[in-house]
Amino acid sequence: MNPITPWKRFGEVQEQILHGNGAFLVAVDERGRPNAMTIGWLQLGTVWSRPVCHILVRPSRYTHRCIAHSGAFTVNVPLGTMADELAFCGSRSGRDVDKFATLGLRAAPGTKVTAPLLVDCAVAYECRVVARAELEPGGILDEELRAKYYPRGDLHTLFFGEIVAAWETSG
Ligand SMILES: Cc1cc2nc3c(=O)[nH]c(=O)nc-3n(C[C@H](O)[C@H](O)[C@H](O)COP(=O)(O)O)c2cc1C
Repeated sequence: MNPITPWKRFGEVQEQILHGNGAFLVAVDERGRPNAMTIGWLQLGTVWSRPVCHILVRPSRYTHRCIAHSGAFTVNVPLGTMADELAFCGSRSGRDVDKFATLGLRAAPGTKVTAPLLVDCAVAYECRVVARAELEPGGILDEELRAKYYPRGDLHTLFFGEIVAAWETSG
């Protein structure tokens, strides 16, 4: 993989996300074992004069525990590929299955964070968690959203990941 600036593939990444195709969020658990989950909500931008990737993760996800413990994650964006892998990582939990082993996901070590990178994705970001915020029921001002997305609670945590390295595949 080749190093890039955080914004070089911004348009393509946003297009992948806006079309609902998703990306892989990867973090390691307490044993150092990597886990991947699919995310559909992801924003790239500048906060505190730093490049930041925002992700929204429900506390019930195994990944939530991995990020809270390790303080880091990678976001790995396939561009129109890996649909089967995205479906699997978006429906199975790392609590029950080793998704890397089952899918044969090919990984490279992160250069600045503990989480590895998926080398078959077109673009990947290494992120260090610099802040987090918990959504609260009273903070969801739109009742329709609250009823649709949070009938059982489990309100997302917003993680702010400073992008400390960004990569694109050479091929
Ligand atoms: C297209 C798609 C997008 C998703 N986006 C999110 C998301 O942004 N945040 C979230 O908490 N869960 C999201 N999910 C659900 C998780 O990927 C799913 O619950 C996964 O099995 C959690 O894995 P884990 O328990 O190993 O962390 C999404 C699922 C799909 C299929």
